[in-house]
Amino acid sequence: MTQTHTFDVVIVGAGGAGLMAALYASRNAKTAVLSKLYPIRSHTGAAQGGIGAALGNLEEDHWEWHAFDTVKGSDYLGDQDAIEFMCREAVQSVYDLEHFGLPFSRTPDGRIAQRPFGGHTNNVTGKPVRRSCYAADRTGHMILQTLFQQCIKNNTLFFDEYQVLDLLIENGRTAGVVAVEIATGEMHVFQAKAVVFATGGHGRVWEITSNAYSYTGDGVAVALRRGIPAEDMEFFQFHPTGIYKLGILITEAVRGEGGILLNKDGERFMERYAPHIKDLASRDVISRSIYLEMKAGKGVNNSYMLLDVRPETVNKYAELDGRTRPDGTPYRVTAQEILSKIPDITDFCVTYLGVDPVQQPIPIQPTAHYAMGGIPTNKLGEVVIDDQGTVLPGLYAAGECACVSVHGANRLGTNSLVDLIVFGKHAGIQAAEYAAGVDFQPLPQDPTGLARQQIEKLYAGSGKEKAVTIGRELKKVMFDDVGVFRTAEGLRTAVEKVKELRERFQQVRVSDTGKIFNMDLLNTWELGNMLDLALVTAIAAEARTESRGGHAREDFPVRDDANWLKHSLAWMDGASVRLGYKPVVITNYAPKERVY
Ligand code: FUM
Repeated sequence: MTQTHTFDVVIVGAGGAGLMAALYASRNAKTAVLSKLYPIRSHTGAAQGGIGAALGNLEEDHWEWHAFDTVKGSDYLGDQDAIEFMCREAVQSVYDLEHFGLPFSRTPDGRIAQRPFGGHTNNVTGKPVRRSCYAADRTGHMILQTLFQQCIKNNTLFFDEYQVLDLLIENGRTAGVVAVEIATGEMHVFQAKAVVFATGGHGRVWEITSNAYSYTGDGVAVALRRGIPAEDMEFFQFHPTGIYKLGILITEAVRGEGGILLNKDGERFMERYAPHIKDLASRDVISRSIYLEMKAGKGVNNSYMLLDVRPETVNKYAELDGRTRPDGTPYRVTAQEILSKIPDITDFCVTYLGVDPVQQPIPIQPTAHYAMGGIPTNKLGEVVIDDQGTVLPGLYAAGECACVSVHGANRLGTNSLVDLIVFGKHAGIQAAEYAAGVDFQPLPQDPTGLARQQIEKLYAGSGKEKAVTIGRELKKVMFDDVGVFRTAEGLRTAVEKVKELRERFQQVRVSDTGKIFNMDLLNTWELGNMLDLALVTAIAAEARTESRGGHAREDFPVRDDANWLKHSLAWMDGASVRLGYKPVVITNYAPKERVY
């Protein structure tokens, strides 16, 4: 029996963006949050090194510098109006988090501590600036806990372990969502005036990833099935330092605290690739450098690089770089100081590698980390559905599932947390305001029709194919051919392979036919989402014949602003993908060559 619920605003996802949206929407509107997880298990909790904001607590900094660094980091594909909005808002947003109770690390005189992070600079000297506000290496975890507590305090209503399967649109307006209650397998219809998607990313499409098991791109896939395009899907970020073979994130803060990347000869190779900013260049630059070193036979065992944060190494290079502390004294660290700044990383390395990072270098490799692309929105979080900026009334998106676009072709470290705090808040405010001014749309005749159809198909497949095999093949081809470096040939292979896998997916049948906590069914449905997103990604990447940010084509190695300074939009129609494009918003920063 399908239950129907009625809310002004429904928020899908309870990570940082969803919780911010919930906190602000629930002040003025009857709001519900639906999450496939228990909220504090959301992937925001995996963000380690900090949230960027030009507080200037330790040295001179300005939000305008943050904005320029973000534009440059984005390889000029980010929309500059949205970037300026985000970087200006970031400062107050961090103070808001502090006032909500977030236990930031502190300077000796009690202000929020800040550390350097890749691509964040003093715009005058070009040197790294301390901009990342952090809570040891648990910043995302602390954001999640703090926001969840605030939501509980404010009586926000949560539907935990509800998987949203479909978005309802009637008369060209948002009408609600359909979800399955994981504990019972029952369908629920949530009629809503406004819906905010905050469903996170889709790094699980790749074999080696820092992303949680739950990061399967559900929101973007649901939107694609309802005719909403996905923007800039060819841009997916590989974080340079994942634990070798496992992909678990080793925060950039390790390099912010002085850690150095070394090849098998013990050479600090980033000096050759980014002579000014070295190990703190932007992520796309470092991930590519690691691959080029590997190709040149400089990988350890031909497989990985080393991240060295032993005090003797940090101190040696700090001296060579002339690095100083804020008071002008030479920057020197002890093992104890390092351990206090990166306690979780230390635990991960000991647990997963048997390596103590203050005694031995850490084996690392690039890991699929962050989707720059997603559901197109404007800077108010409203979903836009074409190249003219037409808004779909009542639908909002924020956080990693959205493409505002503030990250363009490559996101700077710490800006994911800024994005989800700033745009989560504004999406929540806008959704509540919109809901106050409209009536409910009627529900469609058979609201659960499309959701049921998808689920019933998975129960009724021939069973000739296994989801686990398809998933494995998908992740491998995406990692091999739609990874850090790409070629026309590899991308063609990937497109054909993903099409074949989508065909084979039609033959899958789930083996658990029960209703209660049927994770076999849900994981298989998620695989369908990943297949859709992989196809869109590979097709958009094949079409973009240039290199920009996270999209590096060996056959088109140069950024081509004359032809490609534009966002892609991809619509999915069954087995085919249609591409369109829209211009980048330029305000103050004309595109230039990026030098690090
Ligand atoms: O390296 C990190 O701590 C990751 C941060 C981010 O992705 O912004």
